[in-house]
Amino acid sequence: MTSPLYQSTPSQPIHRIAISTGGGDAPGLNAVIRAVVLSALQRGWECFGIREGFNGILRPDRFPVDGIFSIGKDQVRGINHLGGTILGTTNHGNPMRFVVTNPDGSQSEVDRTGDIIRHLRAMQIDALICIGGDGTLTIAHALHQQGYAQGLRVIGVPKTIDNDLDKTYTTFGFDTAVAFATDCIDRLHSTAESHRRIMVVEVMGRYAGWIALHAGMASTAHAILIPEIPFDLEKVAQKIQARTRAGRHYSIVVVAEGAQEKDGQRYLEEQAQLGGVERLGGIGEQLAHRLEAITGKEARAVVLGHLLRGGSPTSFDRLSAMRFGAAAVRALEEGYSGIMVALAFPNVNYVNLDEVAGRMKGVPLDGDTLQTGRDIGICFGD
Ligand code: F6P
Repeated sequence: MTSPLYQSTPSQPIHRIAISTGGGDAPGLNAVIRAVVLSALQRGWECFGIREGFNGILRPDRFPVDGIFSIGKDQVRGINHLGGTILGTTNHGNPMRFVVTNPDGSQSEVDRTGDIIRHLRAMQIDALICIGGDGTLTIAHALHQQGYAQGLRVIGVPKTIDNDLDKTYTTFGFDTAVAFATDCIDRLHSTAESHRRIMVVEVMGRYAGWIALHAGMASTAHAILIPEIPFDLEKVAQKIQARTRAGRHYSIVVVAEGAQEKDGQRYLEEQAQLGGVERLGGIGEQLAHRLEAITGKEARAVVLGHLLRGGSPTSFDRLSAMRFGAAAVRALEEGYSGIMVALAFPNVNYVNLDEVAGRMKGVPLDGDTLQTGRDIGICFGD
């Protein structure tokens, strides 16, 4: 059962809005910002940008002067095709788990969402558009729940190259990441074949294997390992050995950074610090060594990592981003709060933030994309 969409009475007009981008950057953030600003200006609203997630408000030590600044047409001119975000972003500034140093020198986490609401209302800002992934949208939901009664409305916009947000067909940034990864893997085929090597390509994807699956399939990888399917490396080695017997002396293995073995082992680079999240990585290198040992074939690892977050958004991501930005402004005009704009082909619709926050959309194991991979003989390590 879906809950009804939150909607305020239309008698609360908007005069000023603020925009925040949080979490890892993704191609298309600037296109959302531009669409929000241009759509808001058309309605006679004023726009403000908050720097680096919410650090522009919560960290005056970092932003002593312009943590929140006015954005007009000039600030968004020529940014539609640019990667990154003109507002800056962070994945260390969660206001619900803000790290403070206690008098005894120890550190602890405190919830500072109330400070954000007070700050914005003191500036007579009526609405906030939060552009981000799961973490940011969870914060947006909390800000809506506390801020609504104080006159602050909140709309979420779904962003992440990982495409792991629920209730939207896709997030902007994903298509660009897949297109770039596909191009990279295409290029690895010739060098792998020339050297008769195994190339293991590690791509981002903490908890979901969307990038690995889509880029791996588009670039005709021979094995694809994703978090949703715990893998047995022996199965991957058998696939490579079968290829060798058939006269195919090279193999491409695409692995998501968050893929895990059948025994549950994951590859962590760093445990979660206070106020932060764990860092994954290193699986590509490890698997290359082990596959070399099992198969006797030379293996190399390539980590695409943060390259997937850079560059110019594809036209699909630009358009999704622009549609999301304009829809967020329309949602505010229509009186909504506590919702996320989402892609429900062919249109953009609204879904409640409480249906999105804290939920993850993994690759469906019964989906036809995965089935297509199995039908054409790709090894998923199971
Ligand atoms: O945006 C999500 C993501 O791309 C994950 O796949 C990855 O684990 C994470 O970002 C890495 O972020 P950072 O290195 O910036 O902490």
